[in-house]
Amino acid sequence: MKSAPVLAILSLLPAGSFASWAGNINYLSPSMHHPSLGISIRRVAKRNVPGTEYTPQQLNFTHGVASGDPHASSVILWTRAAPMMHSVNDDGAVTGLSPMFWHGPEVTSTAPVCVEWKVAKDKAMKQTVCNGKAYTSSDIDFTVKVEAKHLKPFTNYYYQFNICNSNIKSPIGRTKTAPGENDHLARARFAVYSCAFYAYGYFNAYGQSARKDSVDYVLHLGDYIYEYARYGYTGEGPDIDRVPQPEHELFTLYDYRERFATHRTDEDLLLSHRMFPWIATWDDHEVANNAWRDGHFKMNNTENTFIEDDPVSVGQRKMNAVRAYFEWMPIRQVDMDDNLRIWRSTAFGDLVDLVMLDTRHYDRSITTLWYNDDYISKISGEPNRSQMGPRQESWFFRQLSESHKRGTTWRLVGSQTVFSYLNLGDPSEPDEPSFRLDAWQGYTASRNRTLHHLYSNNIPNNIVLAGDSHASWVSDLVWLNSTDPDPRPEDHPDYDPRTGRGSIGVEFASTSVASPGIGGWDPKREETQEKSDLFIKTNPSLQWTDQHHRGYMELDISHEKVKTTYFGIPSVLSRNRKEIQMAQFEVYRDENKVHRPAGGFNTKSGSAKKYPKV
Ligand SMILES: *[C@@H]1O[C@H](CO)[C@@H](O)[C@H](O)[C@H]1NC(C)=O
Ligand SMILES: *[C@@H]1O[C@H](CO)[C@@H](O)[C@H](O)[C@H]1NC(C)=O
Ligand SMILES: *[C@@H]1O[C@H](CO)[C@@H](O)[C@H](O)[C@H]1NC(C)=O
Ligand SMILES: *[C@@H]1O[C@H](CO)[C@@H](O)[C@H](O)[C@H]1NC(C)=O
Ligand SMILES: *[C@@H]1O[C@H](CO)[C@@H](O)[C@H](O)[C@H]1NC(C)=O
Ligand SMILES: [Fe+2]
Repeated sequence: MKSAPVLAILSLLPAGSFASWAGNINYLSPSMHHPSLGISIRRVAKRNVPGTEYTPQQLNFTHGVASGDPHASSVILWTRAAPMMHSVNDDGAVTGLSPMFWHGPEVTSTAPVCVEWKVAKDKAMKQTVCNGKAYTSSDIDFTVKVEAKHLKPFTNYYYQFNICNSNIKSPIGRTKTAPGENDHLARARFAVYSCAFYAYGYFNAYGQSARKDSVDYVLHLGDYIYEYARYGYTGEGPDIDRVPQPEHELFTLYDYRERFATHRTDEDLLLSHRMFPWIATWDDHEVANNAWRDGHFKMNNTENTFIEDDPVSVGQRKMNAVRAYFEWMPIRQVDMDDNLRIWRSTAFGDLVDLVMLDTRHYDRSITTLWYNDDYISKISGEPNRSQMGPRQESWFFRQLSESHKRGTTWRLVGSQTVFSYLNLGDPSEPDEPSFRLDAWQGYTASRNRTLHHLYSNNIPNNIVLAGDSHASWVSDLVWLNSTDPDPRPEDHPDYDPRTGRGSIGVEFASTSVASPGIGGWDPKREETQEKSDLFIKTNPSLQWTDQHHRGYMELDISHEKVKTTYFGIPSVLSRNRKEIQMAQFEVYRDENKVHRPAGGFNTKSGSAKKYPKV
């Protein structure tokens, strides 16, 4: 981030308050360089009326604690210190045009809330390694986000907040820094999540890896919230007393904030945030369904959308969504001057380079929006269409090359949508589309360029992670040369599905935490099994799929191999601790394909490729 303009503004503040105000990164959210997006700290500080402060007894840590975006020497810490559970109902932007003391329909104090934080080596919080003080206020929904610095690499730390001058304390969180970029790292473990629709189920999946304490970091590939009204896209849902607030579709800043607040009441989500540092990126629903650079499914700035929905523009809605995201997620401010850039990379020593992409909002060409499906189908192969935009794409390719050059063993790519070519055509449902043009398949040129970059530069050991699909998929990462659903060897001369020869890596696509997949929120076994069996037959590079379960996956990575375990949650209709280990797969270093064990894949659910004994 360029820091000069920030310093210029902060230096106007009275001496002494400097560190405390600027210490809360959320005032810069999502960027200090966009005054209409961020908050003018100068104005907030000026508005402070001594004597109107909340007493500590009026304040609570309402939504737990969280940490994220670990670097080798620092990590982001998050909490919310507020006089109420619900979110602040105003547009929050203290601009030059809104009256200085007007603060929306909500009557909230104009005084800041003061919060202290500390980081310790031990759970008892005795061996403090750093601490600080920050302010928050209604302008940022009472959220607090600070960066704890000068930490040691790949080390567990504990952290806690308290209201200044009081004994009112937050829960104690645990976090972990990343290893140094040039350090040798023997092992790293990640849990991978996506798609948590609150109304359709409990977030048991988030709690499982926390209770097992089985990973170092959590990766989230998006759809952390959904913008829909109570039941969004499969009509009626289960009657489980999970009503996301507000009950209508999200448009305003308040709407998005309140939806995040609802999610952060789920005990398992709170537990995961308290236990692990998260590295999160967004999918479409953090803003709206099938979002792309300039619009999304329901809105396109036509007269019709203004009449039917709340009178917000596509741009305003996106701004609201993005601001709430940065207020509520334990994420760093990246280079937000660059068109709301969220894509970023993290090095985990010499073991893993993690690249988190934004394949949705940053600079994606138009996608399927129902009324234009035929058109998108026609243009999906046009070379000038882009999934990521030229800036992100060239950065992505450079990350892959540099990672390889540096000698890092594995490249982990966090995508939202599934990368592998999937034919979902079902002869019994001829009217249903066979291909998801909202995924990489709708951007063939981007997909081909990515594969070309990997193949032509001989970049090995690539693991693509994907969410979005609400089902589990394991595929060899290949450039299939044919769209023929019947996998005849002559259709893909450069890839042998039996051995995996010709593949350049593996894709592990993870199912949803709670969002319904095929068969809706109450899927029938026979129906989902039929689909799994069918997809295994019609997709040459697909090695295993489970269309039935909600769940998550865990990656256990060493220099020798990546071991990925898929967990299924049998029911999300109650809060429970049941899970099944659906399947486990290995990728050996330099094999660049799903390892085929001699006895066949060992799976307890779904459908796997069967290979004839040689
Ligand atoms: C704060 O927490 C206490 C104890 O749980 C509770 O009694 C009180 O109502 C809470 N106050 C607010 C403003 O949420
Ligand atoms: C978006 O624009 C297209 C073309 O003008 C129109 O057909 C479609 O109905 C619009 N969508 C909405 C939700 O208004
Ligand atoms: C993209 O390229 C196609 C030709 O392949 C052309 O017809 C179309 O106008 C181009 N679109 C844009 C937005 O440049
Ligand atoms: C992508 O690659 C496939 C397979 O080689 C090819 O059939 C297709 O025409 C390519 N599309 C684009 C846009 O490059
Ligand atoms: C596609 O197949 C042809 C042979 O039919 C081969 O020359 C070409 O390299 C293949 N391309 C890819 C990307 O597999
Ligand atoms: Fe989703």
